[in-house]
Formats: sequence, C-alpha cells, structure tokens
Amino acid sequence: MSQRRFEFDYLVLGSGIAGLSFALRASQKGRVAIITKKHRAESNTNYAQGGIAAVTSREDSYEMHVQDTLASGAGLCKEQVVRAIVEEGPARIAELIELGMRFSEREIPLSGGAKELDLGREGGHSKRRILHAKDVTGREIEKALLAAIAQRESITIFEDHFAIDLITEQKLGSKVGNRCLGAYVLNRNTSEVGTFIASVILLATGGCGKVYLYTTNPDIATGDGVAMAYRAGASIANMEFIQFHPTCLYHPKAKSFLVSEAVRGEGGILRDVHGNEFMELYHPLKSLAPRDVVARAIDSEMKRSGADFVHLDITHKPARFIMDRFPNIYKTCLQFGIDITKEPIPVVPAAHYQCGGVQTDLNGQTGIPGLYAVGEVACTGLHGANRLASNSLLEALVCAHRAAEHVLSSRAQTPNLKIPDWQSGEALDPDELVVVSHNWDEIRRLMWDYVGIVRTTKRLNRARKRIANLLEEIQEYYWDFRVTGDLLELRNIATVAELIVTSALERPESRGLNYNLDFPNPDPHWSQRDTVLKKS
Ligand code: FAD
Ligand code: SIN
Repeated sequence: MSQRRFEFDYLVLGSGIAGLSFALRASQKGRVAIITKKHRAESNTNYAQGGIAAVTSREDSYEMHVQDTLASGAGLCKEQVVRAIVEEGPARIAELIELGMRFSEREIPLSGGAKELDLGREGGHSKRRILHAKDVTGREIEKALLAAIAQRESITIFEDHFAIDLITEQKLGSKVGNRCLGAYVLNRNTSEVGTFIASVILLATGGCGKVYLYTTNPDIATGDGVAMAYRAGASIANMEFIQFHPTCLYHPKAKSFLVSEAVRGEGGILRDVHGNEFMELYHPLKSLAPRDVVARAIDSEMKRSGADFVHLDITHKPARFIMDRFPNIYKTCLQFGIDITKEPIPVVPAAHYQCGGVQTDLNGQTGIPGLYAVGEVACTGLHGANRLASNSLLEALVCAHRAAEHVLSSRAQTPNLKIPDWQSGEALDPDELVVVSHNWDEIRRLMWDYVGIVRTTKRLNRARKRIANLLEEIQEYYWDFRVTGDLLELRNIATVAELIVTSALERPESRGLNYNLDFPNPDPHWSQRDTVLKKS
C-alpha cells in the first residue's frame, strides 16, 4: 500500500454545518483541507428538517430561549454557554442568509404583501422561533454552504476519505506534550492511507446514531470523532444522554425517515393505535412536551398495548397547508402508501442525537492543544441532559464561528516532530465482511435492547461485558488485517457504545435522557455534574 503526505494550515474532518462553516471563515487566512467520508453533502445536517432555533421575533426574547433551553436540559446545562450561544445566534443566522440561505417566509397579515420569516414551533419552546426552509432546512443549508465553499480556492475537499486516527505527540512517543499534529486518512477508492498534517485540526464528524439499531441518522453517523478523540486522550463528557426522537416513520421499507417535530408544532396529535390521545397522561404540554418525556411516553404506550407503533395525526389540518408546509414528509410518506392528509402516520422513537461528546469550551477547544471540536461531536454544555429541539444547528453555527475566530487570532504552531507513515497489517481476509457485519448488528441490537430509552443497571452491566469482549475481538482484527471503512466504523461504534454504557453506569440517577428504573429520580448531588471519561 503506497502512502501520501499532505500539509495544510487547517484540517477539517467532516462536511456538515460545523465543518463547512469553520472552513469558510478559516480559509480567509490559510489553506484548508476538508476530509469527508462519502459525498460532500452526506451528513446529518443534510437531513435536518425542523430548522434552527433563534430569537428573531419581537414577541420572543433571549431570556425566554435561555429558560426553555435550561428547562429542557434538566439542570445540567452550563448557563453561561447557553446565554452566549442564544445571544450570538441571530448574527450568525444573518450571515447565513447573506451567504444565500433562504428561509421560508410568510405574508404579514394586512400589510399589503410584506413578508417576514415564518417561524415554526417544536417541543419545549414557549414561542415560535424555529427558522426553517419548509421541511428540508438542512438540505438548503448544506447547499448554501457548499456553494460558498466552491468559490474559495484555498479550500480542498477530499470526498470518500475516511479519517482513521488523530496523530498526536503522545502517540509518537512524546512524554511532555500531546499536541495534535494531523490525522491518518484512508482513501476509500484507492485503499491508500495518507498522512494529513496541519497546525489546527477540527473534529466536525457529527453524531453516533448508528450505534443503535433504529435511528433517524444516515449511515455516516458512527461516532468516529468521539472514538478518535478518546483514543487520542481527550475528555469525553455526558455520553449517557442519547436523545431518542419520538417520531421516526414506522414502515418495513423505510430505513430511517424522520417525521419532524414541527408536525406536532403545527397541531399534529399523538394517538394510540385505537385513535385515543394519550399524552395528557404524561405532561401538560401533551404532544409538544420535551422530547425525553414524549419518547418515554410512546415507549410506555407501546409496551402497554403491545403495538409496534403509535400514530401521529395531522389529518384535521387542510390538505393544502400540509402539502405546502411539509412537502418532503408528504411526498416520502406517499411513496410508502401513506397519504398524511387523510390518514395518521405510524411512528416509533429512534436514536437521534448525541448530547454528550468531546468536551470543549465555547471556542471549540478540547484539552488537546491544536485539536478543536464543533457540532454534534462536541459537548459544550449547551444541551445538558436533553437537547432542546433545533438547538443543534444553532450551536454548530455559533461555535464554528467562535472556533475559527479563536484559531485565526492564535499563533500557528509548526510541529517539529518526524511524523511516520501509517502502519498496519496487509493481509486481506475473505471472511472479514461476515464477521464485521455480524459484530456490527450485535452491537446495535444490544444497545437498542439494553441501553435504550428505559435502562436498568443489570442490563447496562450485561451490555458492558459483551461490548468489552467484542472490542477485544475487533482489536485483534484491526491490527492483523488491512483497514477498510467497514472495519474502522465497527471499531468506532464499539468504542462509542462502551463510552455510552460506562457513562450511564456512572450516573446513579434519572435525569433528562438517562432514565434508569433502579434510580427513577434525579439526585440533587448529580445536578451540574458531568460524567467525564478519559483514556488512562
Ligand atoms: P454532520 O452534519 O453529521 O456532519 C458530519 C460530517 O462528518 C459528515 O460529512 C460525515 O461524512 C463526516 N465524517 C464523519 N466521520 C468521518 C470520518 N471518520 N472521516 C471523514 N469524515 C467523517 N438539528 C436541528 O438543530 N434542527 C433540526 O431540524 C434537526 N433535524 C434533524 C433531522 C435528522 C433526520 C437528523 C438525523 C438530525 C437532525 N438534527 C437537527 C440534528 C442536526 O442535524 C445535527 O446535529 C447537525 O447537523 C450536526 O452537524 P455536524 O456538522 O456536527 O455533523
Ligand atoms: C425535527 O425536525 O423534529 C428535528 C429537530 C431537531 O432534532 O432538532
């Protein structure tokens, strides 16, 4: 296998909203490489539906957005982080609009045709404050950012390139520092592993939905950034808080299709399979209660009734309104034979968002010099124990800007260590695919069954034992055989699964998304305390 070496000023791993926003700003002062696993637009960002939460209306205020975020986060948000992100949001949104992003607008009543932003509503928000592009907000954001990137000569995008591991001083044998120097990257088309060197490395690799059997996330979401950062010695915080979205389409042929919370924001009602509303039994906000409450309520209704799904019903709204406001959801459901203007949508909860991640400050700095993390891969303290809907695109946008500003105002460091080429086994194993896919399925099912919406300590311990065995097997494989994307993803989901289980076991209470039947209440001793894991 031949090797190639690349040097840039900034190395960005990931091409979702976080990576692209950072790259655009950083490219004003240096050469940027963007590494991305598949096609440049393939990311969680691309599938975002509901929109971006930001205070843009006179009826809203920063204080209200802050209070909604804190309430949703169940006592674990860092208030100064929440305030900074909420208050800087509108300026970043204005820049996105300047770049070419078009959010949906509506006519102002009695204004003679003047328009204003059409603001959506989602669970846990006390006001309408979600800017959206109908129900394909993420796709439009990716398009706008990628179009702007295409105008920048100082940015090079490497598609079908898989970041394997970070290169750090410690990994090269240093006993004093642990600066991050770059990353080893697999070119999936040629099987070459290249060495990418830069003075700043940004992890913007998104979340880990694929650790679970059922997820709203696309295939790229295998927690690679968290796993790489953990192996490099970074602190990983609050991984027990995996958010399950209450309404993923239930259909045998639909792999993972979200039915946006905005449908409930526009009046959609959750009903059991017999047509009865049930959310009033669980929360005064009914179908618009915070996500953790709704997902648990659905889980409990499904267990109680034995049904495989519940219904989301918006048929009481005019068909024209539904088709105009939710064109993508309408069209996709129709392809599966469901006309949402006439019949309720079968839905189930599915793993959706990783609230924890690589611990950073507000500027995206991790504990490893030179390594920044922004977006879903990072844990800034904004989301606490349960993310408020549509706050993640906001966080990525604000923190990417802050990280770029921080990097541009800091002095670049040039490593003077000799960085070796990637070393690994050369053997090819014909059985590899079978083993990889078997282990992959086992982890995802195990996580769904034992580390899902409702947990117990016994089940968590069972999961921990099995994952430890699997990690050992994978480690053997990894060193003996030539690396492939599938094998790398398997190693990463196993590592992330272990981090989730260990974090859940370290928190002996129920708070937000971490619901453990053995400790059914929040423990004041654990409020404001993060679970932080670091490789010893
Ligand atoms: P992503 O957009 O996921 O980008 C990650 C990038 O990293 C991808 O390009 C991927 O290919 C790349 N990558 C990963 N690993 C590697 C590797 N090893 N090597 C190279 N490249 C790698 N949030 C909201 O705020 N509002 C919403 O309306 C909303 N709707 C959502 C709907 C769906 C269906 C989903 C799945 C999520 C939604 N979210 C929403 C969450 C939000 O979309 C994500 O949290 C956010 O887009 C994450 O952005 P990111 O840039 O951090 O990561
Ligand atoms: C949705 O549209 O329901 C997703 C919003 C989010 O995850 O923030």
